[in-house]
Amino acid sequence: MIVIRSIAHLREQREAWRKAGEMVGLVPTMGALHTGHLSLVERAQAYSTLTLVTLFVNPTQFAPGEDFDRYPRDEAGDLAKLEAAGVAAVFAPEVAEMYPGGSLTRVSVPQLGDVLEGEFRPGFFTGVATVVAKLLILVQPDVALFGEKDYQQLLVIRRLAADLHLPLTIEAGRTIREPDGLALSSRNAYLSADERRIAPSLYRVISRLAADVAAGADSAQRAEAAMADLTAAGFSRVDYVSVRDGETLQPWTDRRRRGRVLAAAWLGRTRLIDNVPVPDLPA
Ligand code: PAF
Repeated sequence: MIVIRSIAHLREQREAWRKAGEMVGLVPTMGALHTGHLSLVERAQAYSTLTLVTLFVNPTQFAPGEDFDRYPRDEAGDLAKLEAAGVAAVFAPEVAEMYPGGSLTRVSVPQLGDVLEGEFRPGFFTGVATVVAKLLILVQPDVALFGEKDYQQLLVIRRLAADLHLPLTIEAGRTIREPDGLALSSRNAYLSADERRIAPSLYRVISRLAADVAAGADSAQRAEAAMADLTAAGFSRVDYVSVRDGETLQPWTDRRRRGRVLAAAWLGRTRLIDNVPVPDLPA
């Protein structure tokens, strides 16, 4: 497995892969890898002849006061997992390599990036879109993989790739969950034992909400009740629980379109997000 630190080395390597006729699959990550990331790697390997994983904790997607400094980092552990998974190359640059002094350009995806997470974390999706655009331009993958766990991020990136005419396919990986339903996330490492016991209620509550609205319940009223359920379960704050159109992320008003339930809630200092589709009713 090649570990690449510089853009110059990445470009050189990309050119060699092009000459060799390789199909490159890209899995961008911020490290602290778990089974969810490794399942994206596995999908990427099925779509490509070689897989490149990026490990980069991107400072521009963290607001001042968020967890950039304490975000879990374990490069040695990550490299060992990726090597064992048969990854061909890892791009793990320093911040100054990705954002050299004087770097001003930002990429933003209004509307899709302004709602839900965008309301509670202003600037977050501009940071994500900026770094993902850089990575897609640098790596020039044939396919790039993103998890459905970050559903809004997936939609923002799909739109970014379409709007910038980037010649690649974006594939989604399904959310990987613990046996009790908690979606895998690097931030789960922050949870205390008590918080970890409460955390699976997020998935339970939004799954129940999704089933109820599929059966005809009013989505705004049920979403409000779900927020109260999360507070009752022990969440210290609920940013939102909302039923949205699965493509536009506007409120879900047209039942012929796919709906998606999205939620964000806090357990102490840890913010968890999750989402599930509104299921089709059995015919
Ligand atoms: O989902 C993540 O880990 C990050 O937001 C991403 C896509 C790697 C960009 O920094």
